[in-house]
Amino acid sequence: MEQTRSLPRGDAAAPRASAPAGDAEAADAAEQQRSQELLRRVRERIARDGGWIGFDSYMQMALYEPGLGYYAASPAVLGAWGGASDFITAPELSPLFAATLAPQVARLAQDLELDTVVEFGAGSARLACSMLRELADAGAWLPRRYVIVEVASGMRARQRDAVAALPAGLAQRVQWWDTLPERFDAVVLGNEVLDAMPVRLLHRLESGWVERGVRAAADGSLAWQDRELAPGSALRPTLRQLAPGSVTEWPEAAEGFMRSLGTHLGRGVALLFDYGFPAHEYDHPQRTEGTLRCHRAHRVHDDPLWQPGLSDITAHVDFSAMARAARESGLQLLGYTSQARFLLNAGLLDLLAARMAGGDAAALRLAAGVQKLLGEHEMGELFKVLAVGRGLAAPLPAMVEGDRSAALDAGAAD
Ligand SMILES: C[S@@+](CC[C@H](N)C(=O)[O-])C[C@H]1O[C@@H](n2cnc3c(N)ncnc32)[C@H](O)[C@@H]1O
Repeated sequence: MEQTRSLPRGDAAAPRASAPAGDAEAADAAEQQRSQELLRRVRERIARDGGWIGFDSYMQMALYEPGLGYYAASPAVLGAWGGASDFITAPELSPLFAATLAPQVARLAQDLELDTVVEFGAGSARLACSMLRELADAGAWLPRRYVIVEVASGMRARQRDAVAALPAGLAQRVQWWDTLPERFDAVVLGNEVLDAMPVRLLHRLESGWVERGVRAAADGSLAWQDRELAPGSALRPTLRQLAPGSVTEWPEAAEGFMRSLGTHLGRGVALLFDYGFPAHEYDHPQRTEGTLRCHRAHRVHDDPLWQPGLSDITAHVDFSAMARAARESGLQLLGYTSQARFLLNAGLLDLLAARMAGGDAAALRLAAGVQKLLGEHEMGELFKVLAVGRGLAAPLPAMVEGDRSAALDAGAAD
């Protein structure tokens, strides 16, 4: 089954296991060696830090440790089903995702007189390349530069290969930034980036919340260990909904990312697509195990400490926290809605109809992709779009109908 990265723990629809065991997930010798080396470095870090590291530090290493982490070392991880990939994302799933987004980006850029698109975490650069081709075909607006900001060197290499296959007039517009300039004006895009940022883990005891981290066990493996939370840790109010025994995530790194966007983005709009919920839904009393989970070979498993570096680790996005961090850093909230609503408002079905009427040979495949993008039980409802920015009136045109911004503040009062 083609696997998106969106099924929360306890969702029976996904093939899953406590740790991967099947042939498809078995690591080859090179992978095992890489994982062993990463494990050695994690243990070294734990020893250096006094016997314990927060889960966010572990997740950072498991995904991004240079040359060894999941995204740093294995750029084939996302892509079409049937290849060596572990999961599939919206731009990989359907060309109509980029085709629907492109006119929205052009319109925002024209309204705000922008000449730059900045995409964070561009993965295989599928969205970047498709977007540039769509914009060029439409002939209305093309960015002077399409900038990619990507933390994983392995992914950057894959992006360069994809961009090199574009016509020269488009390829030359693409550039990479290692750091953000002090100020930039742009339309900003991010698809499934926030969910790939390290999270801290929280565990509720009868006596209150503690932080769940990682220690090295006597046999050399990794094990969970709880510690007192640092004094003054500002926990979100909706955590009170969770009973003792619950484990959940604290997206501190993603909050920092939103604040940094607020610091550096001058005039512009950021559209962030991801799976997640507002805080009061995130902390639903029945979500006692949080949303953290792992992917390998289009299967979901539950054990992020298993063979570090060989599985994707991801957590759902707390969109209330993202909106709050953006507003704290001076950005306006411009809209929040489901992916399905956004794409419908932006004309996805008209586009599909036009391509089908035009006798597109891949019409059936296009229709199946659209079904996944919009389907309530696929990506349509769990995936959301958050729009923040500076210099534009809210809500955005593609969010006028079905804007759910008010839900982001529900349950926030102490
Ligand atoms: C799940 S993949 C999504 C890739 C692509 N956007 C897509 O939809 O197919 C997450 C991507 O975000 C990158 N990433 C994670 N944190 C990032 C950050 N703080 N800045 C830029 N890229 C980041 C990862 O290296 C990876 O390329």
